[in-house]
Amino acid sequence: MTTIQLPEPQALTMTLGDALARRRTNRECTDEALCDKDLAALLWACAGITSEDGRRTVPSTLDLRAVTAYVLRADGAWRFDPEKNALEQTTAEDVRELSTSYQYEYVKKAPVTIVFVADRERSKNARPTGVFVDAGTMGQACYLAATSLGLAGCVRASFDHDALRNGMKLAEHMEPIVLFTVGRPA
Ligand SMILES: Cc1cc2nc3c(=O)[nH]c(=O)nc-3n(C[C@H](O)[C@H](O)[C@H](O)COP(=O)(O)O)c2cc1C
Repeated sequence: MTTIQLPEPQALTMTLGDALARRRTNRECTDEALCDKDLAALLWACAGITSEDGRRTVPSTLDLRAVTAYVLRADGAWRFDPEKNALEQTTAEDVRELSTSYQYEYVKKAPVTIVFVADRERSKNARPTGVFVDAGTMGQACYLAATSLGLAGCVRASFDHDALRNGMKLAEHMEPIVLFTVGRPA
């Protein structure tokens, strides 16, 4: 399996109050690649482990941690492993286009789309809506981190979920729920 070790995340230095006040959806971003320090900061914000017992920056239904962050880039789809701060490739194909079946052109070229994927096996004893809330908190964490980093981001739920899951080579019980597309502001 191809893996990428991510560097230490870029520090998020904006105050929480400022990040909340400035957070906006911005769909105008350039094609320029994101540096891995910024990517690591976004992933830490939405899925980082912050205590010895494995708890994270975000809450999760029944503490199941059933939603995992994946990354779509030009070089393929990647699962974020928060314990190793590493990316594990699920496909080398550029599947960014599959994340915009009926919406925006810019998403095909935006450098990074983070996909929040629910493991429906792992969450089977929780209410079905729980993973939606988990993914929502992760999306907001990405917005706040992107604001602190000066990046343009957008949460998106309008996409063909089955086409994206198949393109990312995920198992049937893995359900992409919502996306966060991010890049440098145009
Ligand atoms: C659950 C959810 C799904 C969304 N889906 C989309 C989407 O598919 N496409 C899109 O362009 N924006 C999407 N958005 C972004 C909203 O359009 C945006 O948050 C709203 O217009 C308010 O703008 P703001 O985020 O700047 O406050 C979504 C937001 C949420 C919370």
